[in-house]
Amino acid sequence: MVLDVSERPLPPLTQIPADLRSLADYARRAADHFTVEAWRHLEEGSGEGQTLRANRAAFARRGLLPRAMADLRGGETALDLFGRRHAAPLMLAPLAYQRLAHPDGELAVVRAATALDTGMIVSTLASFTLEEIAEAGRSFAGELGKDRAPLWFQLYLQPDRRHSLDLVRRAEAAGYEAIVLTIDAAIKLSGMTLPPGVSAANLAGMPMPRHTATPGGRILLGTPLADAAPRWEDLAWLREATRLPILVKGMVLGEDARRAVDLGADGLIVSNHGGRVLDGLPSALDMIEDVAAAVDGRIPLLVDGGFRSGTDMVKALALGARSVLIGRPQMHALAVAGMPGVAHAIHLLRTELEVTMAGLGCPRLADITRERVITLSGA
Ligand code: FNR
Repeated sequence: MVLDVSERPLPPLTQIPADLRSLADYARRAADHFTVEAWRHLEEGSGEGQTLRANRAAFARRGLLPRAMADLRGGETALDLFGRRHAAPLMLAPLAYQRLAHPDGELAVVRAATALDTGMIVSTLASFTLEEIAEAGRSFAGELGKDRAPLWFQLYLQPDRRHSLDLVRRAEAAGYEAIVLTIDAAIKLSGMTLPPGVSAANLAGMPMPRHTATPGGRILLGTPLADAAPRWEDLAWLREATRLPILVKGMVLGEDARRAVDLGADGLIVSNHGGRVLDGLPSALDMIEDVAAAVDGRIPLLVDGGFRSGTDMVKALALGARSVLIGRPQMHALAVAGMPGVAHAIHLLRTELEVTMAGLGCPRLADITRERVITLSGA
């Protein structure tokens, strides 16, 4: 149902109602907590939305094959990535402008991540500065008497390398533990006008890359925006520029993955940007196996795009992913119920993951092998 603009947005709830029991429940409720324009911006895919739909459809084409009467004793979901413990193979994908969902934006998300020992990847286009977000995570961890959850910084290369380097140095100084270089979204059509109070806080004072028309009737190719798109030499440059682990986000082909590893990438995030860039890309789930075969266990593979449940997660793990990222569900939960909403959504997903692992007879992540997934014929 499309609501009248004047009926939106509802303020965040102060208590989590009992009927919110899944990420899908949060998604259904969330529409009322955004302006119509922000909701469309959040939910839409590019083009005709083929890739957006493919991301979800891929899960329905895969079935799970459980081992009978497996010994579940001693099971757990924790894993190590780049020397840090993650409570589960689940991370929060980088999302621009989280204040669109809630006034506390990324600060609420990092607190929820901290409470649930879940890693967060902070976007270059965050609506608080990367330092503010790191500090919010650190002080909340102090209040809870625990370690801060893993924090990675997502880098969008800036037209001027000095500005990119400045972002990397700031991330290092603020204690970020990895750099995620997103390579698939330099060219994106977006009509969204940011409301007052929401801006790219990290980029204050830097020129925003924009589509600048050039003489000669050029539309996009041949303009400064297209000319500034990331190239392989940029990855080589970044490798020289930082000692932090580098993950490349937005790769879908094994051949490219191999080249990235050769250039020193420490991890890859198989992603089609939630169906927001090249429409026609296959689902992220369908691309994992090709990349996993090419990389052959040399570096960890992460994946995102349409993950909404524990069974979705297990399918990706069986096909070769080490961990899974969620994007839009963060914004849904944040808009509906702020920090407690995000914490609750992470908890729901982790619970579903454990229930699925138990049902599948796989008490440990290493038990979730390729044989546990079948491609359904005719689905
Ligand atoms: C994104 N994504 C994204 N990725 C990135 O590297 N930097 C960014 O700033 C953003 N910003 C962003 C904003 C919004 C509103 C969306 C929906 C997505 C992509 C994101 O990290 C992730 O790849 C997808 O969101 C994963 O798909 P799901 O979980 O949203 O289906």
